[in-house]
Amino acid sequence: MYRRVSIRMRKHFVSVLVLCVGMIASFSARAAADPSKGKTLFQQNCASCHNVHKKLTGPALAGVEERWVDKKLLHQWIHNSASVLASGDAYANALFNEYNKTPMTQFPALSDGDIDDILAYIGKEATAVAAGPATPAAGGATTGTAEEEGGNGLLFGIITLILAVVALILMQINSNLNKLAADKEGIATPEPVPFYKNKAYIALAILLLFIVGGYFTINGAIGLGRQKDYMPEQPIFYSHKVHAGINQINCLYCHAGAEKSKHAMIPSENICMNCHKVINEYSGPTLYTAEGKKVNGTAEIQKLYDHVGWDVTAKEYTKPGKPIEWTRIHNLPDHVYFNHSQHVVAGKQQCQTCHGAITEMDEVHQFAELSMGWCVNCHRTTKVQFADNKYYSIFEKFHEQVKNHEIDSVTVEMVGGTECQKCHY
Ligand code: HEC
Ligand code: HEC
Ligand code: HEC
Ligand code: HEC
Ligand code: HEC
Ligand code: HEC
Repeated sequence: MYRRVSIRMRKHFVSVLVLCVGMIASFSARAAADPSKGKTLFQQNCASCHNVHKKLTGPALAGVEERWVDKKLLHQWIHNSASVLASGDAYANALFNEYNKTPMTQFPALSDGDIDDILAYIGKEATAVAAGPATPAAGGATTGTAEEEGGNGLLFGIITLILAVVALILMQINSNLNKLAADKEGIATPEPVPFYKNKAYIALAILLLFIVGGYFTINGAIGLGRQKDYMPEQPIFYSHKVHAGINQINCLYCHAGAEKSKHAMIPSENICMNCHKVINEYSGPTLYTAEGKKVNGTAEIQKLYDHVGWDVTAKEYTKPGKPIEWTRIHNLPDHVYFNHSQHVVAGKQQCQTCHGAITEMDEVHQFAELSMGWCVNCHRTTKVQFADNKYYSIFEKFHEQVKNHEIDSVTVEMVGGTECQKCHY
């Protein structure tokens, strides 16, 4: 009797184990193609020509995997589109002709894993819209990162839970077997305590809660106020791509503060009206929101007029204006000191290094993490333009060393860029 039961128990145990391993394996297989990694890769390599939902230089990429019969060929295309065209593939050549024979950049450096990540991101973006408008980050602060980290956190949570259940089952089996063995030998044992009264289980549950709770609290606290990729909906659909990209308006025309002061500053309505007293219609390429909705540029210009009280037909201000309340995107905590002119003028840094390809963005999103590690890493690796820069004339020792070829460059760190008090009040 003991043997039979024990074999049944073991079979049961083995199947539970197989089930768990299977579940964990399927989770990690899904996690292998990481859409958040893909998103970064996409933004770095593809976003200059592609958008998931709309046609730019290249096709909109939503649903692209269905358009390619062979995933291997799709990989080859992204690695080296010319080789696919040369092989005479009909679909690829038709597409190439449709896009006026614009060659796509080759990406030999991307691994197959990288490409799977990018495709996973495209797939996720495409379905997010199909399932209804993606939640615009109206609530603010943590939306962007919380969602991505939540994905991983959930996975770990589920695995932990499965492991806990396995542990519970194993303990239960163990105690049952002990009891059976004892019964067989005729030793009287007390009835087993039900698991919810068992001290060991209660202790285990408390420990588990503690770990999971702690994980989320700490994660939340670190991410608090961080909002990479934050892209709020603005009161007017004002496109940087139209202004700074297509029409080549200099960033400093509107953000003059970036050169002169701590803050780059958002332009006042007067600056808009310098041009828009005349430009009252939009006739450029069709604009879309990130959710893929069409935008009527002329109606958006009218919103500007409504704010400043301008009458288009009378060509004069007829009403008192009310300021446009742009939603602020970048926001460092109060205890951090950051100065634009220091970076743009003294440091000679490009806006794009910190803000991404603004000239490609219809709606601005936060490109950099704005974490302390982000600032410090750049200060460690970036060389300051030392020679002929008045700003650094006080560092005589370094000038001496450069002249004597003892050092060939000076990093921001060497001029004090990683000292706490430089960035913290
Ligand atoms: C210089 C612009 C450019 C860049 C950068 C670029 N592409 Fe393309 N891509 C194109 C063009 C243009 C086409 C259309 C075919 C052609 O003309 O070669 C295309 C076509 C494609 C297609 C086929 C689309 C379809 O509808 O079947 C895929 C997939 C693709 N690109 C993926 C990528 C990925 C992934 C990246 C980034 C790693 C990337 N592209 C970067 C310009 C670009
Ligand atoms: C014609 C005026 C104009 C020009 C030119 C312009 N911007 Fe802007 N910029 C704005 C306005 C208005 C906003 C606020 C609305 C928004 O966020 O889209 C803004 C917002 C921004 C923001 C986000 C600010 C925040 O809230 O954190 C950044 C970053 C930015 N611009 C960078 C640039 C860069 C870089 C360039 C040049 C490539 C540029 N801008 C050119 C008008 C302009
Ligand atoms: C230096 C001139 C200039 C300035 C300054 C300027 N614009 Fe424009 N704006 C343009 C041009 C050029 C177009 C494109 C017209 C076209 O293609 O038909 C445009 C188009 C637009 C459009 C329609 C396309 C879109 O982006 O949605 C809106 C809305 C707009 N501007 C709002 C603003 C606002 C708000 C400001 C102030 C922050 C501003 N503009 C400042 C020149 C300017
Ligand atoms: C070294 C990185 C860096 C460079 C270079 C840089 N910015 Fe910024 N920018 C930031 C940070 C960080 C913030 C957030 C500042 C804050 O919250 O106090 C910011 C904020 C902004 C804002 C929001 C309003 C403000 O002043 O806080 C605008 C607009 C802006 N930047 C435009 C520009 C333009 C235009 C350039 C190029 C001329 C530029 N930035 C160059 C890092 C940079
Ligand atoms: C893309 C690279 C880059 C990033 C990112 C960056 N910095 Fe800098 N930073 C520089 C350079 C280059 C200088 C040198 C200019 C100078 O000496 O003032 C500098 C100088 C400084 C200085 C003056 C240091 C000194 O010794 O006087 C401060 C303060 C500073 N950065 C703060 C920040 C903060 C805060 C952040 C993050 C929000 C940040 N920086 C992000 C490149 C960067
Ligand atoms: C180059 C600029 C820079 C330097 C140098 C720097 N910090 Fe920071 N620090 C930041 C920024 C930016 C944040 C805000 C990070 C965020 O919001 O996630 C920050 C945040 C912090 C925080 C809050 C916790 C957090 O991660 O948000 C502490 C504590 C801190 N720094 C301590 C220090 C100490 C101690 C030093 C010296 C060893 C130092 N910092 C040097 C830029 C800097």
